[in-house]
Amino acid sequence: MQLSKRIQKVKPSATLVITAKANEMRKQGIDVIGFGAGEPDFDTPDFVKEGAIKALQEGKTKYTPSAGIPELREGVAKKLKEQNKIDYKPSEVVITPGAKMGLYEIFSVILNPGDEVIVPAPYWVSYTEQIKLCDGIPVTPMMSEENRFVLTVDILEENLSENTKAVVINTPSNPTGAVIPKKELEKIAEFCVANNILIISDECYEEFSYDEEHISIASLGEDVKNITFTVGAFSKSYSMTGWRLGWVACPEEYAKAIATMQGQTVSNPTSFAQYGALEALKDKGKFPAMMREEFRKRRDYIVKELNSIDGVKCIKPEGAFYVFPNISSYIKGGIKNDIDFASYLLEEAKVAVVPGSAFGAEGYIRMSYATSMENIKEGINRIKEALSKLS
Ligand SMILES: Cc1ncc(COP(=O)(O)O)c(C=O)c1O
Repeated sequence: MQLSKRIQKVKPSATLVITAKANEMRKQGIDVIGFGAGEPDFDTPDFVKEGAIKALQEGKTKYTPSAGIPELREGVAKKLKEQNKIDYKPSEVVITPGAKMGLYEIFSVILNPGDEVIVPAPYWVSYTEQIKLCDGIPVTPMMSEENRFVLTVDILEENLSENTKAVVINTPSNPTGAVIPKKELEKIAEFCVANNILIISDECYEEFSYDEEHISIASLGEDVKNITFTVGAFSKSYSMTGWRLGWVACPEEYAKAIATMQGQTVSNPTSFAQYGALEALKDKGKFPAMMREEFRKRRDYIVKELNSIDGVKCIKPEGAFYVFPNISSYIKGGIKNDIDFASYLLEEAKVAVVPGSAFGAEGYIRMSYATSMENIKEGINRIKEALSKLS
């Protein structure tokens, strides 16, 4: 085996691992309730599918420009202008095979060996691993539960070094559901402009903000826009996770570099998928609004039920479709950490959750409520029963 040092530094995606384990149990006929999924449980809307089918029938099945078809770059620029209040030109938008690839491309084009990127914890699993793949160093300060896991500017101040190149902000957040309020975004933006730190703003969950309107940090001023990469995707908003389509919007020189990288790696996002995405843009947010209302009901239910369990403490998240309960009071005896806790739930309750340590936060679990109300009710009952055996 002659694996590179680079790949040996990288951990497999914990969320995919737990889903695989749960699927394996299901194959054996075991009825597992999954709270691991990072994708909406709704089908991709028909109008999107029809756009792709039509493209296939019309023979739009060949390579496209590396940065995506011009209509889609224009469409995303228009959406960013109308919905997110950021004035990007189509040449500043690159269509990527999922936001995940877009993020990896950003790290690839900005990082030199030893550059630090501040990734506030709890963080989405791939940021740190992608940064390591690009020879950068993730710096992962913990945000406080008391402050609802919201990133504040003092965390950036405390972690600034001469090697700080960028900061990742993810609002609404996976895994905590935290939403950074506008006032705090303004302070973060001001700090990054003053210290010449690039902002990577992952807004994949922009459609799932329950209490406040989603704010894009790049909308806060031209100087902020000039240092920001706005990352988004069709994946969660239009339940298109398998289509692999997202975007990066950023100053043109960076966009060109990302397109070059894309041209030398994946060539382009899948041709007919891009035509489906064009139809998603025409919907102007109606489909995600429908999902948002359903998720809101599930959020309210799951938070109430989790907090009714002795020893479980769960903040009511303002966005995304995850809850991140504190289960640290159960870490005793045979249960040494949150991984043991998640394994106990899988084996005893046949319920799949993701341990918080996968997101850089021990003593928590992440549960996705992108599953039916029926599953949520059954899963919660099973968790209650399994935990009552422990106390
Ligand atoms: C915070 C966050 N960013 C990016 C992604 C990746 O999105 P995509 O499926 O578009 O690659 C995910 C998916 O789980 C996510 O949760």
